[in-house]
Amino acid sequence: MILFFVFVIPAFVLWCLNKALFSQKKVYDLKGKVVLITGASSGLGQACAYKFVEAGSKVILSARNINKLKEIRDDIVKQFGKHDDFHEPKVLYVDLDNLESLPKAGEDALMHYGHIDILVNNAGISYRGSILETEMDVHHHLMRVNYFGHLSLTKCILPSMITRKQGHILSVSSVQGKVSIPFRSAYTASKHAFDAFFNCLRSEVAEYNIHVTVVSPGYIRTNLSINARTGDGRQYGALDPSTAQGMEPSSVAMEVIKAIECHEEDVIIADVKTKLGILLKNLWPSLFYRIMKKRAIRERKHKEKAE
Ligand SMILES: NC(=O)c1ccc[n+]([C@@H]2O[C@H](COP(=O)([O-])OP(=O)(O)OC[C@H]3O[C@@H](n4cnc5c(N)ncnc54)[C@H](OP(=O)(O)O)[C@@H]3O)[C@@H](O)[C@H]2O)c1
Repeated sequence: MILFFVFVIPAFVLWCLNKALFSQKKVYDLKGKVVLITGASSGLGQACAYKFVEAGSKVILSARNINKLKEIRDDIVKQFGKHDDFHEPKVLYVDLDNLESLPKAGEDALMHYGHIDILVNNAGISYRGSILETEMDVHHHLMRVNYFGHLSLTKCILPSMITRKQGHILSVSSVQGKVSIPFRSAYTASKHAFDAFFNCLRSEVAEYNIHVTVVSPGYIRTNLSINARTGDGRQYGALDPSTAQGMEPSSVAMEVIKAIECHEEDVIIADVKTKLGILLKNLWPSLFYRIMKKRAIRERKHKEKAE
């Protein structure tokens, strides 16, 4: 009952105020826009690719798995090839783990149409493990793919956006970029860094008419947990129940499209419980951390039982 008065009512009032004062209308048309998507070979990035093509954008699909990207491109041609304003997607190899290769990858992306209107920093890798048992290489790997790789690619694309005095950078973080969850340290830390970087960038490039959106989704039904790393660097290889019950990639992709069309800035795409968790962390951190400590004990016991 106390929680209801302390959190739910103020949260609702703030939400209504925010909607009334700052809610955005569609101000940006995606038709003909050049969009570079990282992590387009799977999950959310793949779903976004279909939505951008449907909206008439010129899409560049990037990831490491070129065969998968070509399959997606061919399927897109099959589905949308006869539409007016259809542009066949381009395919680009990008390995965010290889930081030295990224300036060239950025140049290659710019070569296709001479510029990028929208950069979707989506690729990512997750992690499951305890801090004590996790090798430093794993922390470095997660920081390279989830943070430094996107930072580097963004820096390659940004000068051309600044010259043209237009552009939109949409970066896919996570609710774990807002709150820290036990046994997810490498992922959570990389997403906090990512979230902070793009929130700084937003202010720095606003005067050049460049918009920055950070979207922070909750669980999405993708291969993220299957591809996650464990403490010793192996693949986790399992679809977590939370991920299996997560949102549909296509519905999250629709929110991504809306966030760009409406020039939104910081969007949390999650259920009410998750949003209240973020609110709790900010308004009453000691209670939030108490809950997280209990969660850590529960998860450790669960893991010990399973072994
Ligand atoms: N699923 C969720 O519950 C959830 C929740 C919140 C946020 N997110 C975020 O959503 C984004 C998309 O993830 P997803 O859920 O769609 O997972 P996913 O299905 O596993 O897709 C991850 C994508 O990242 C790419 N990728 C991985 N390592 C890469 C590297 N070294 N270089 C370039 N690309 C790389 C993969 O392509 P290749 O393997 O072909 O390179 C793949 O296309 C991530 O940033 C993730 O953190 C997901």
